[in-house]
Amino acid sequence: MILNVFDDHTDLSFQAARIICDQIKAKPDSVICFASGETPLSAYSLFTTLMMAEQIDYQHFTLIGLDEWVGVPPENHGSCAWFLRTNVINPLNLLPGQYRLFDGMTSDLPGECVAMDEFISERGGLDLIVVGIGMNGHIGFNEPGVSPDLYSHVIELDEITSTVGQKYFKEETRLTKGITLGIRHLREAKTAMLLASGERKAPIMKATLEGEISMEVPATIMREHPNGLVLIDQKAASLLTARE
Ligand code: F6R
Repeated sequence: MILNVFDDHTDLSFQAARIICDQIKAKPDSVICFASGETPLSAYSLFTTLMMAEQIDYQHFTLIGLDEWVGVPPENHGSCAWFLRTNVINPLNLLPGQYRLFDGMTSDLPGECVAMDEFISERGGLDLIVVGIGMNGHIGFNEPGVSPDLYSHVIELDEITSTVGQKYFKEETRLTKGITLGIRHLREAKTAMLLASGERKAPIMKATLEGEISMEVPATIMREHPNGLVLIDQKAASLLTARE
C-alpha cells in the first residue's frame, strides 16, 4: 500500500482524477467502481472534465456503483444512484449498458446482489475501486465486524452511518440497511484507491493506518492490498505518527 499526503482536498482530487483517467487511457475497457459521497465529488468533476479535454475514449469502460441505501429510490437526491448519475454518468453520457448501480428498492435484494456479482465477474472483475471512508472506518457499507470474504450483500447500517448519512438528504430519512459491494471485491480489485479529507477523518485515518488490521475497522484491509493507494490531505493526516 502506498500512502500519499496532499496539501489539501483540491490537490488530492486532482491526483485521484488523474489516476482514474490514466486507468481508462491504459485500458479503455476498464471496470471501475465509484463510491458516492462528499470526498470524491471534486475528483469526479475533474475526472469528467479531463476525459473530455484530453479526448480519452470513455465509451468502453464500465462504471459500477459501490453501494446504495435500501429503500431509497434513485430519484431521491440523497441516493447513491442520483449522485453517480449527476456527477459521472450524465456528464459523460454513459450508455445504459455501460454502468450498473444497485437497486435499493427491489423486493429481491439477494437476487440484486447475485446480479451485481455476475455483472462484475462477467467483465473480468474490477480494475479499480475508488472508495471513501466512513467515520467508523466503513468502506462502502461494509460496517465494523463485517466478513472480509463477502461479495455483494445487504447489511444493517451502523448507528454512526445512519446518523452521518443524514447529511446527504434534504429531509430526515430512515436509513437502516445498505446494499454494498463486499470487502472481497476490494481485495480482488487490481487497484484499490481510498480517499479521505478533512480533520473529522483524522482519528479514523490514524486507526486505519496505525491501528491493528481488523474488520472492526474495515478500511485497515487497504494495508494488505498489493496495489492499495491511500490519498489523504494534511488535515486527515494530522494525527498520524509518521507523516509522509
Ligand atoms: C458512499 C460510501 C461511503 C462513503 C463514506 C464517506 O458510496 O460508500 O462508504 O464513502 O461514508 O463519505 P463522505 O465522502 O461523504 O465522507
